[in-house]
Amino acid sequence: MFQSDLTEKFQSLKTPYYYYDLGLLNRTLDEIKTHGLEKGYHVHYAIKANFNFPILEEIRKAGLGIDCVSGQEIDRAIEAGFKPNQIAFAGVGKTDDEIQKGLDTGIFSFNCESLQELDVLNELAEMSGKTANVSIRLNPNVEAKTHKYITTGLSENKFGINISKLPELFLMLPKLNSIRLTGIHFHIGSQITDLKPYHDLCEKVESVQQLFEEAGVKLDHINVGGGYGIDYDKPDQNPIPDFKAFFEVFDKNLKLRDGQQLHFELGRSIVGQCGSLISKVLFVKEGIATSFAVIDAGMTELIRPALYQASHRVDVLTSDRPAETYDVVGPICETSDTFRKGVQLPAVQRGDLVAIRSAGAYGEVMSSGFNLRERVNAYYSTDLT
Ligand code: LLP
Repeated sequence: MFQSDLTEKFQSLKTPYYYYDLGLLNRTLDEIKTHGLEKGYHVHYAIKANFNFPILEEIRKAGLGIDCVSGQEIDRAIEAGFKPNQIAFAGVGKTDDEIQKGLDTGIFSFNCESLQELDVLNELAEMSGKTANVSIRLNPNVEAKTHKYITTGLSENKFGINISKLPELFLMLPKLNSIRLTGIHFHIGSQITDLKPYHDLCEKVESVQQLFEEAGVKLDHINVGGGYGIDYDKPDQNPIPDFKAFFEVFDKNLKLRDGQQLHFELGRSIVGQCGSLISKVLFVKEGIATSFAVIDAGMTELIRPALYQASHRVDVLTSDRPAETYDVVGPICETSDTFRKGVQLPAVQRGDLVAIRSAGAYGEVMSSGFNLRERVNAYYSTDLT
């Protein structure tokens, strides 16, 4: 996995910590540029996946915009040098303060998730003497074939406005004088590795486009969200998702109208593979059926296995002894604080270093202070080479 010359440097740092390979991030961004941006598509990076400044810096330089879901994320994007007109703002529960921040910042679009939110946004915009650019987030009822906690586009999910509400929206629109409706927005879920749901989404977008046309409402842009997945099992074989195949689905199946822009909001597929959580083996304990490798990172640093039964590859960086079977567990007082069960690893002993791979997205950002744990450090390939 990592170049062996890094292991010595890794050993000199206090564990646990996150390590980010900015070279891989840039190679990933190059693929997005080639197959997405150069085709005229707009890609907003979902900042929720990882908001560290050195990462945002590379993403900004590559020419991507930002997708935010909180006022603090808007602040972070601006602080990282993104332009207000590159920022899309989604979220089912925007507070008045957050809406006001979006208005004051002059963002590209509010992705509105309910008719009530539209009313509130209109009122706040009117009071500020501004016009808000709005994209309506619609719930397309498309099955994303992913974990139920990260499925967002089914009618049972809290996200977006049901398509059956469109007639009501069309009646409201002429009265919303401080809103400029510029587009429609969808996001069907996350860690989607099968492209079929995106084909289904393209079909849904076309039928929705027709409804807007019948109502005489022009759409400047279509935002199809993000959700493209990564290979958690084989990060070394597939470090960069197949962006050519991803963008081609939309290129071939989505009929854009004259002058219409196509926007994406990708998070995990951009930063997922470039991050690893580096941790040290504290103890090796004989269990009844298996041995426990107790490491110094826990669900407080990477909650994905506990929350979504996610499986991250574990590499042992300092052992090439014959393999044994382990449950790799953290120090937190929760049984769900388990990274892997029954995994074959080179035999480990106290002090060995492990890398939990594919942790660049929704890893560090979801860390918590449970058990009064401190936030861990982040190091970048540029610091270590
Ligand atoms: N756009 C919207 C409106 C979203 O809600 C999300 C993610 C994205 C874009 C970016 O999705 P991505 O390309 O990263 O899949 N914590 C979970 C993932 C939650 C995703 C939430 N929304 C995990 O660790 O799997």
